[in-house]
Amino acid sequence: MIRKAVIPVAGLGTRFLPATKNVPKELLPIVDKPSLMYIVEEAIEAGIEDIVFIAGRNKEAIEDFFDINYELEKKLEESDRLDLLQDLIQIREKANFISIRQQKPLGLGHAILCAKPVIGEDAFAVLLGDELSAGEQKATADLVNTYNDKKQSTVAVMEVPKSEVFKYGIIEAEPLDENTYKILSLVEKPSPEEAPSNLAMPGRYIFTSSILNVLSELKPGRNDEYQLTDAMDILCKQEEMLAKKTRARRYDAGDKLGYLIANVEFALEHPQLKEDFKNYLLSLHSRLT
Ligand code: G1P
Repeated sequence: MIRKAVIPVAGLGTRFLPATKNVPKELLPIVDKPSLMYIVEEAIEAGIEDIVFIAGRNKEAIEDFFDINYELEKKLEESDRLDLLQDLIQIREKANFISIRQQKPLGLGHAILCAKPVIGEDAFAVLLGDELSAGEQKATADLVNTYNDKKQSTVAVMEVPKSEVFKYGIIEAEPLDENTYKILSLVEKPSPEEAPSNLAMPGRYIFTSSILNVLSELKPGRNDEYQLTDAMDILCKQEEMLAKKTRARRYDAGDKLGYLIANVEFALEHPQLKEDFKNYLLSLHSRLT
């Protein structure tokens, strides 16, 4: 069973400056919830109980966000408005939050290795913060199902246009069935000419604890950082690793356009907002054409 998830939140969020000068980018709202809250909910929906944040300096607001704010909750309770925090209170009841500091920004592989004291020998999930997963069955639940069946490290993949492979870790793989692949090798952010396929990793993974052994021996790679993709490339030659093409919708909230798109899409599903917001978008039509 997968009960632990690692969520790296140490990035500086430079793409959203000045908004992220004092506010962690993971707490920027998508409609009315911080983007990180959707990711934590995705983990909990997949059965995760222990959430390990790998944080950098100036990220205390993330710990505080998932902790109780006694004064606020007491006030809301007195005015019968505690429902405003209901989703957050439920998260707190379902999951434990553990925060580990990544002392130096040495890359994603290094960030995951920082979780070793908490992970021990267990298999675990990794969810990267920029990607949001939406739909009936989100990416992590999908991976957990495959892991429970096969007990092998499994990563989510999606098809991207060849011109976009340079943004992602890309797999070379052999199909096992319509949506499942055996991974043969991986390369981090290749050029379109170098890319072995157009199957990109959107930032959802399940690993056996062997990845931590590989990471502890790893040499720095691209940009002189410890790359998770390089460790996976070594691991897939030691034990079988799978890739699962996920059917969940995904939004890349890591850049400004993706962030705006995610806001529009989530607003169109928001129970209180969707009708008014749809009417507003329709009213734009004449202005935009
Ligand atoms: C990271 C990973 C990359 C993955 C991507 C997904 O890159 O290194 O393999 O495809 O996340 O968003 P980053 O976007 O942090 O540079």
